[in-house]
Amino acid sequence: MDRSQTGLPAAEPVAEGMAQALARFLATSPDYMDTKAIDELRARDYRRLDDLGHTYLDYTGGSLYAESQVREHLDLLLNSVFGNPHSSNPSSSAATQLAEIARQDVLRHFRASEDEYAVIFTQNASGAIKLVAESYPFRRGLRVLLTVDNHNSVNGLREFASAKGADVRYIPLTEDMRLDAESLAAEFDAGSAGAPGLFAYPAQSNFSGVQHDLGWIARAKARGFDVLLDAAAFAPTNELRLDLVHPDFVDVSFYKMFGYPTGVGCLIARHEALAKLVRPWYAGGTVAFASVLAFAGRGTAHRLFDVPFSFEDGTIDYLAMPAVSIGLRHLQGIGVELVHRRVMLLTGWLLAALAGLEHRNGQPLCEVYGPKDLEARGATILFNVLDPDGNRLDYNVVQRAADAQGISVRSGCHCNPGARETAMHMSPLLLQESFTHSATSSEEFLASVSDRLDGGIRVSLGIVSNFADVYRLVQFVRSFTM
Ligand SMILES: Cc1ncc(COP(=O)(O)O)c(C=O)c1O
Repeated sequence: MDRSQTGLPAAEPVAEGMAQALARFLATSPDYMDTKAIDELRARDYRRLDDLGHTYLDYTGGSLYAESQVREHLDLLLNSVFGNPHSSNPSSSAATQLAEIARQDVLRHFRASEDEYAVIFTQNASGAIKLVAESYPFRRGLRVLLTVDNHNSVNGLREFASAKGADVRYIPLTEDMRLDAESLAAEFDAGSAGAPGLFAYPAQSNFSGVQHDLGWIARAKARGFDVLLDAAAFAPTNELRLDLVHPDFVDVSFYKMFGYPTGVGCLIARHEALAKLVRPWYAGGTVAFASVLAFAGRGTAHRLFDVPFSFEDGTIDYLAMPAVSIGLRHLQGIGVELVHRRVMLLTGWLLAALAGLEHRNGQPLCEVYGPKDLEARGATILFNVLDPDGNRLDYNVVQRAADAQGISVRSGCHCNPGARETAMHMSPLLLQESFTHSATSSEEFLASVSDRLDGGIRVSLGIVSNFADVYRLVQFVRSFTM
């Protein structure tokens, strides 16, 4: 695609100072000024970032919390008495009430109607996915479609599916790290002619930043598939409207959306889809009643509560529930759409700036994986630094240099082996062979496949990213010029 069509500034070597670079950025992206409320928020509520001189570029790893979120939560805890829910005493009822408010807040945030969806609190996005994985009625011959671009927490569901004899298929990626539309359509057709089961894919890749088409949800459902949409990397900087796209299951982690609290995520699931799940066990909190003496070695001697409680094992993190409501209010206060607009403008500048960096011999200084423009992508960029001969530098070396400068980026394969293997053109045969070796670490495993470490540096933008963050990153990468 022609760069002028994408709204990206012309590729440039970024040799200028920050004030000059910012002025040029504003001249080509005047809309950035419409997002200045985020600068005010950063100065007021995230002071520690600039006070400590930190360049935070790992929002897909975890977002950052605002001071006001923590204060409001602390105030509430210091001035209330909350006990374990699951009882009628006043401290218990108070905790139950806050959990129910948080449930409603989550539904409202994702525009999900209570008639259609339930919210089940979990420890994180992985816990939400596992609830589906362990309870989905996989059976012999059932088609399960996974995309090569998936976080390991989604890939892992293939273990439950294949143990029960399901036919697990992977949809490959194209060169630009997008889903191969033809393969997916063919798998939908084949599935609908046989036994369609579950289709699980990420709304946004945590590896390449690609945003996979939410239109696949309706197409999959029309072919009889249930859809698990992994929204963990998408929800922090994109509005997800369940009233428009209606996936059956959605997982998120709240710390990725607003930094605090950690340790809480949820599964947002359609009642109709939940009714198909069969829980493989029960626990305190999930059963209305159970008997030991009536059990007699086999059969059922317990009755599960109704949804959502039948899926919440034990005691939820009840003190964190008000922090979820506070976090959602915080994010809505600034506006996901405003955050989205800002991070995309910054991503456009960053892509152009990285593309413009060259060694003295004219060779590019870095290689970006996935889309090089803003079309259908989010604010996550994966790249490697190259030497003047085009060889990748060890990303651990680059990571350590960034660490030393107070720049938080993340390196490796980012728990997304399929995306890494595709981006680095790794051979399936070699990968299979390497499983016969005795590797115990990712490094040993990779060393048996290739003579270099394959992965990359990931930068991801979020709620209070600003121009200085991306400018510093580009200056940092420039320092590798030879
Ligand atoms: C796309 C995606 N899915 C799932 C997860 C798992 O999230 P958690 O580790 O919070 O369970 C992540 C975490 O990085 C992610 O990026």
